[in-house]
Amino acid sequence: PLKALNVQELAKEQLATIPPRYIQDDVEKTSHNSSMLLPQIPVIDMEQLLHGHDHDSELERLHFACKEWGFFQVVNHGVSIPLMEKVKSEIQAFFDLPLEEKKKFEQQEGNIEGFGQDIVFSEEQKLDWSDLFYITTLPANMRQPHLFPKLPVSLRDTLEAHSQEFKNLAISILSQIAKGLKMDEKEMRDLYTDGMQILRMNYYPPCPEPDRTYGLNPHSDSDALTILIHLNETEGLQVRKDDTWVPVKPLPNALTVNIGDMMEIVSNGVYKSIEHRAIVNSKERRLSLATFYTFNNDSDLGPALSLIGPNNPPIFRRTNLAKSLEIFSKRKINGKSFVDFMK
Ligand code: SIN
Ligand code: FE2
Repeated sequence: PLKALNVQELAKEQLATIPPRYIQDDVEKTSHNSSMLLPQIPVIDMEQLLHGHDHDSELERLHFACKEWGFFQVVNHGVSIPLMEKVKSEIQAFFDLPLEEKKKFEQQEGNIEGFGQDIVFSEEQKLDWSDLFYITTLPANMRQPHLFPKLPVSLRDTLEAHSQEFKNLAISILSQIAKGLKMDEKEMRDLYTDGMQILRMNYYPPCPEPDRTYGLNPHSDSDALTILIHLNETEGLQVRKDDTWVPVKPLPNALTVNIGDMMEIVSNGVYKSIEHRAIVNSKERRLSLATFYTFNNDSDLGPALSLIGPNNPPIFRRTNLAKSLEIFSKRKINGKSFVDFMK
């Protein structure tokens, strides 16, 4: 079976150059000078959106952000700041464990969940300069017995609290999204109530040749909604806006949210699941936590029935979500997104 190396260990070897499998030929740079002039992803005030006098204009801003950017930061999101601090310290502590300890959670063959790297399909595939830990958290009966229950207790308890708070936040944003789209709110509720939540903890070590590789290569997320925590101060996330890569500058305590492929499909293409990537640097490590939220596995996924009509014909198929995801993940060879698959 094909397996990638642990990059955190590789980075300790003080190499002058990176191994060929990590070298990407086409890393387009965002130059530092021009990034000063680039616009920033929009910022949404959740408190204003839910309870403010200016609800309508904030909803308008959310709608614009989802349509034009597919990405935004949320402030006043209501997630406990001490909990976020705990998430940061616990995940850092996990990656700081000796390799033998982390290997207890190693990905098993044919299973993306666990500690390791992205799936390697072929010897030719370029590898990312990062390690990850994928783990399903919700619904609780989907947790793999050898992973979540076996985590170090303080990490497990922290992720338990995190998963509840982030489910609530994801649902709260999705119901506002329904309003922004003028979609039937019950139709949205039926899609999100029993969604799956998957965490992806990312560790990007410093890299001797940061201009020749990616921390995470350009991709769009296949879930409904992703909420990202920047776990340390180091930046690296970049979002495609038209033909440029816009670096995300995280605001203090803010969260970064993006529309995933499933939400693009439900919106019938009005909202965009935008390509993004993580870059690395030569000096500092970077850590992040992506929390993915999907629509219900047993739902028929397709453009919302409350949105389509003679003037808005569906541009995606409608199929059982679990079934189409299964077919999609078997055929997935670099490149094709879930959105393309559903066209
Ligand atoms: C992701 O795309 O899942 C994570 C990107 C990041 O680390 O900022
Ligand atoms: Fe992503």
